[in-house]
Amino acid sequence: MLKLSVFMSPTGGHVGGWRHPDAVTDAGFNIERWAELGKLVERGKLDMMFLADGNGVNGIEDPDLLSRNPTVRPVVIEPITLLSTLAMHTKNVGLVATATTTYAEPYSIARHFGSLDWASKGRAGWNVVTTSNSADSMNFGRDEHSEQSERFERAEEFVDVVKGLWDSWADDAFVMDKESGVFLRGDRVRLLNHKGKHFSVRGPLNCARPPQGHPVVVVAGASDAAKELAARTADVIFTVTETKESAQEFYADFKARVVKHGRHPDEVKVFPGASIFVGKTEQDAEDIYKQLQDLIPEQVGIQVLSRIAGLDLTQYPLDGPLPEMPETRGIGSFRAALRRLSDNEGYSIRELYQRVLPARGHIMMKGDPKQVADQMEEWYRDKACDGFNLVAAYLPGALEAIIDLVIPELQGRGLFRKEYEGSTLRENLGLARPADGFPYIAPAA
Ligand SMILES: Cc1cc2nc3c(=O)[nH]c(=O)nc-3n(C[C@H](O)[C@H](O)[C@H](O)COP(=O)(O)O)c2cc1C
Repeated sequence: MLKLSVFMSPTGGHVGGWRHPDAVTDAGFNIERWAELGKLVERGKLDMMFLADGNGVNGIEDPDLLSRNPTVRPVVIEPITLLSTLAMHTKNVGLVATATTTYAEPYSIARHFGSLDWASKGRAGWNVVTTSNSADSMNFGRDEHSEQSERFERAEEFVDVVKGLWDSWADDAFVMDKESGVFLRGDRVRLLNHKGKHFSVRGPLNCARPPQGHPVVVVAGASDAAKELAARTADVIFTVTETKESAQEFYADFKARVVKHGRHPDEVKVFPGASIFVGKTEQDAEDIYKQLQDLIPEQVGIQVLSRIAGLDLTQYPLDGPLPEMPETRGIGSFRAALRRLSDNEGYSIRELYQRVLPARGHIMMKGDPKQVADQMEEWYRDKACDGFNLVAAYLPGALEAIIDLVIPELQGRGLFRKEYEGSTLRENLGLARPADGFPYIAPAA
C-alpha cells in the first residue's frame, strides 16, 4: 500500500498560492484553522501531516522579497505546540514536527517528542534536520552555521542519545499500585550515562517510554550524509527528486544503505515530495495551474530561485542558462535538483523558476484524478518510492482537491487504505514498535 504524508505549509506550497482568492492566509497565527486542516487530512486517511520548521526568519536580509514571499514561513506557530493542540482535535493522523539537531539539545527533544507521543496516543513523528537556513546560527550565539559534515556528525550522535533517552524506562515500569504503595519499579529504569564527542547526558528521561516506543523518526535530505543518517536511524526519509529515473536511482541506493546497516529494506520508507495540481478534468488542472503561475511576480520568481541556488541570479540573463553554483551551506539536495533540470532539460533561468517554484524542486503531478493517480501508481510500482510527501499549492482548496479527487481514485485501485489500519503512526506506516531492551519479567501470579 502506498503511504502518504502531507507537507502543511501555512501559506501553501506554491509561491503564489496564498494569493489565490480562496486561500486562507492566517494559518501562521490562527489555531482554529489548524483544527479544520487536521480534520481535513484525516478525512483523506493520510498517514501523517508534516510541519517544516526553522529557528529564524529565513530571508530577513531582503525585506522586499520577504514582504512578497510568505512561503519561507516568516510566521508560524511552533510545531510541537501546534501539534499538541491538534492531538486533541484529531484521532488517527500522524503528527510530524521538524526539530533541528544543530541548535537543540537531545534531552529537550526527547522530552518534547515523547510528550507529543503521549498527548497524541502514539501518533508523533520527529523530522530530523540539520537546519537549512544558515542565518539561524545568529539566534544561537554563533556567527556561522557549521559545515555539513560537522552538522551531520552531531546529528548522528544526537539521534542515538534521543533514542537512548526514550528507552529510559521499561514499558512496564509504572505500576502505580496503591495497595503496596509502589508507584514505579526502580529496577525497570536505566541511566543513559552517555559521554560522546558532542553530548554528555546522564538520564533518565522524565517521561515514560512513549506509546510507540520511539516516535517515528524522519530524516529530510538527499545528500550522502543525510542518506547515511536515515539508513541507520530513521523510519522515513523525505527527499527531493524531479524525475522517476532519479527517484529510482535514489531508492535503490538508499535501500542498499539500509541493508548495509543490518536493517530490512522495508524498515525505512522513502517519500519524495510531490506537488499536486489536480482538477476534475485535465483542463481544470491546467486552468488552476495557470491561475497560480500568474500569481508569481517575475522579480519574486528570480529572487526565490536565487535563494535556492545560493547565488544572485538577477545578474545573469533571464533567458540564459543557469551558471555554476557555489557550494553553499543551504539545501544541497535542492541545488542538485536545479542543476540536473538545467543540464538535462536545457532550461533557462526563467524556465527554471517557472518550473521549480510551483513544485520547489519536487516532482510535479498535474492533471485529472486518473492522470495524477497513474503517475503515483507508476512511481510506486517501479520502485521509485514507498509513498509521497504531498505538497498542496494553497490551503485548504488544493488539499481538498487531493483528498476528494485523488484519494478515491487511489482507493478504487486498491493502492491506498479506506480506513486507518491501527491507532498509532507506526501501525499505519507498517513499522514495528521497538522493544524496550529490558529483560522480560512475568507479572506476579
Ligand atoms: C524534503 C526536505 C525537507 C526539509 N525540511 C527542512 C526543514 O523543515 N527545516 C530545515 O531546517 N531543513 C530542512 N531540510 C534540510 C535539512 O536541514 C538537511 O539536513 C539539509 O538540507 C542538509 O542535507 P541535504 O544536503 O541532504 O539536503 C529539508 C530537506 C529536504 C530534502
